[in-house]
Amino acid sequence: METTLIILKPDAVQRGLMGRIIDRFERKGLAVVGAKFMKVSEEIATQHYAEHQGKPFFPDLLSFITSSPVLVLALRGDGAVAVCRKLIGQTNGAEADPGTIRGDFGLSKSLNMVHGSDSLESAERELAIWFGEGEIVDYDRSVQGWISS
Ligand code: RTP
Ligand code: MG
Repeated sequence: METTLIILKPDAVQRGLMGRIIDRFERKGLAVVGAKFMKVSEEIATQHYAEHQGKPFFPDLLSFITSSPVLVLALRGDGAVAVCRKLIGQTNGAEADPGTIRGDFGLSKSLNMVHGSDSLESAERELAIWFGEGEIVDYDRSVQGWISS
């Protein structure tokens, strides 16, 4: 089982898309094991997007992600990292495949609604930024055996 870090970005919250986006992850079979609604500090945003520091779009990315609250989720399931990236779709909503979150709900490369960790290493690094000790909750789901074996 993998755990991945998902952020419903300010545009998803403002547009009232949280429920519809969470539904896509839940109906796929992923379990929510952590959730936090918050306004992001400049410090956390910089840590999270460290790989993009120095790129031309970095200042805009930082001001976007800190502009309004986000919902941060930890999702768990078999192959969760890659599965979530597939469900989210390509970075630019105008190019993302229909059926993906970005492909169905957006047109923009910057206002792209959802972040998902891009590898297991990124997931581990990012989960440690957003969730403290005890904030990711281990629990059994009785339905799990009907989702994967
Ligand atoms: P994310 O990290 O948010 O899940 O998105 P991603 O993996 O699909 O894209 P990534 O390359 O990691 O870029 C992070 C975010 O930066 C913005 N971006 N703007 N103007 C540009 O060329 C550009 N490139 C990236 C996007 O908001 C992207 O989600
Ligand atoms: Mg990324």
